[in-house]
Amino acid sequence: MEFFYDPDEIKKMYQRKLVSVKKVLNIEKSLAFLFRKGRSYMEKEVLLRLENVTKTYDMGEVKVEALKSTTFDIYRGEFLVILGPSGSGKSTLLNIVGGMDRASSGLVEYEKENIQTFTADQLTAYRRREVGFVFQFYNLMTDLTARENVELAATLVKKPLLVESCLEEVGLADRGRHFPSQMSGGEQQRVSIARALVKNPRLLLCDEPTGALDFTTGKLILGVLDRINRERGCTVLLITHNTAIAAMGHRVVRMRSGEVASITDNPNPLAPERIEW
Ligand SMILES: Nc1ncnc2c1ncn2[C@@H]1O[C@H](COP(=O)(O)OP(=O)(O)OP(=O)(O)O)[C@@H](O)[C@H]1O
Ligand SMILES: [Mg+2]
Repeated sequence: MEFFYDPDEIKKMYQRKLVSVKKVLNIEKSLAFLFRKGRSYMEKEVLLRLENVTKTYDMGEVKVEALKSTTFDIYRGEFLVILGPSGSGKSTLLNIVGGMDRASSGLVEYEKENIQTFTADQLTAYRRREVGFVFQFYNLMTDLTARENVELAATLVKKPLLVESCLEEVGLADRGRHFPSQMSGGEQQRVSIARALVKNPRLLLCDEPTGALDFTTGKLILGVLDRINRERGCTVLLITHNTAIAAMGHRVVRMRSGEVASITDNPNPLAPERIEW
């Protein structure tokens, strides 16, 4: 089946009242199922710029060059996949972008401000206000319930979203009183996404979020991230070594030995339901 989708044309048709609002919504819904296109991403505005960023870990006698000179932009609203083998510098890059670590040299410009020059307090504020994190092993507080984990994150920001609505958004409205040990890996990961979401971050950084999950649960998590990107316009950076997952990104940055090997545009990103591995 061939698809015709020109947003301007649909808008014109709508204006001419040739199609009803409901029809427009239905078309958009079915397209969202087949292909995932971030609305805001189409404008390609730079949210974060990396320029000649390097990171060297000084281990005394040995120096580990985790990141060689790296330059690229992250666009507002895009779903960016960072792909690469173990040790290629993916987490190093994500930690620098998220303000968890500082680069050894180079420029990391978020909304035209170089976060490299931030004081420790400014960097903490940046991390709290702008960035949500999702990790492979969830990193939940084990002695807090699902809801309390999310509530704790909500206390970090001035204008958090509603805890309940975030739990609902990840399909866990009825599991708020459960402790992480009473939940499956996929459920724990959804709690960690709700925890990131409650801060209403503009940038969602995910380091191997499906790495510890089976195929079906992994796809479910990718579906949640996809929806957050499409519906909230949240910029998502997803690290993976799974090449199949790259198909859902608007762009794919491939890393090799601490370097960006290539950056590829993906005009027709796949919906997570259609990814196979
Ligand atoms: N805190 C650290 N101290 C010293 N070396 C480090 C540190 N963190 C990372 N490295 C080294 O930097 C290189 C890149 O590591 P990084 O964690 O960024 O890789 P990665 O692509 O995320 O790998 P993986 O897929 O296994 O998570 C590796 O050689 C690693 O050993
Ligand atoms: Mg890593």
